[in-house]
Amino acid sequence: MKVLCFGSLNIDYVYTVPHFVQRGETLSADALHVFTGGKGLNQSIALARAGAEVWHAGAIGADGAFLVDALKEAGVRTEYIDTLPEVSTGHAIIQKSADGDNCILLYGGANQAVTPEQIDRTLECFSAGDLLLAQNEISALPHLLQRAKARGLRVALNPSPMDESLPPLLVLADCLLLNEIEASQLLGCGADSDPEIMLTQLHTRYPDAQIVLTLGAQGALCADGDCVIRQRAVPVQAVDTTAAGDTFTGFFLAGLLEGQGTAQAMRFAAAAAAIAVTQSGAAPSIPTRKKVLSSGAFCDILAEESP
Ligand code: RIB
Repeated sequence: MKVLCFGSLNIDYVYTVPHFVQRGETLSADALHVFTGGKGLNQSIALARAGAEVWHAGAIGADGAFLVDALKEAGVRTEYIDTLPEVSTGHAIIQKSADGDNCILLYGGANQAVTPEQIDRTLECFSAGDLLLAQNEISALPHLLQRAKARGLRVALNPSPMDESLPPLLVLADCLLLNEIEASQLLGCGADSDPEIMLTQLHTRYPDAQIVLTLGAQGALCADGDCVIRQRAVPVQAVDTTAAGDTFTGFFLAGLLEGQGTAQAMRFAAAAAAIAVTQSGAAPSIPTRKKVLSSGAFCDILAEESP
């Protein structure tokens, strides 16, 4: 069984700010750092660092070769990434506050130049039983999900960023991984709604999908058939929460792929995400499997499970 992550590759410009810029305000940033990022790239790296064999597909401009190098260095296969000389690589402008929180502005660039032709060409190399992981940062996403499903691939979808094009596509997902903001946007309720109620509503709407709802410092919930699995977050001093959800997604799916039960995969993912928020940057903050398994975060979670 092969894993294809078809998604964005971004250059992340991370500005450390005293507070998020307000409407009409001009604000000086304290620092600027440039990192490898993009939800697609981050999730491919998380899958690979967790131990899965993964192929990344997507598109970059001539200025994005270093993103492909970062994927290769993490052990991700890159032969389905197209380089498009006429467009620039996608980028993200990220404001990072002192408590590690962020807000993100995306410019799609080459990510929005993915075509149905590239998708068809890539999917020809994958077959029934393989897993597709996708997010909502590339063009032609409906085509990707529909064709993958028609070929018999299992589909895991991180519907992020949420927009009005997504709800009709979510029925194609076998596994949905989203955070509380995306869930509230999808359900049309407040972001502070009770997560357990949101999970129940999502499960009612998409009864055939496994649904993972990540809740930041509150942990994560999973609706798996008629079971609800609750996973607490490991308390850590957050430096940068960027890519915590991507780390959780990659480690959770890699755990399932290697035969872990859902609860065990949630623990693996929660420990990895806890480590990711203690480091700066998106992809650079994603830990290796070895680091997770030997970490205090993982030991804490296991200790809590033991009587
Ligand atoms: O999930 C974090 C990612 O979102 C960043 O790396 C940024 O590029 C955006 O895609």
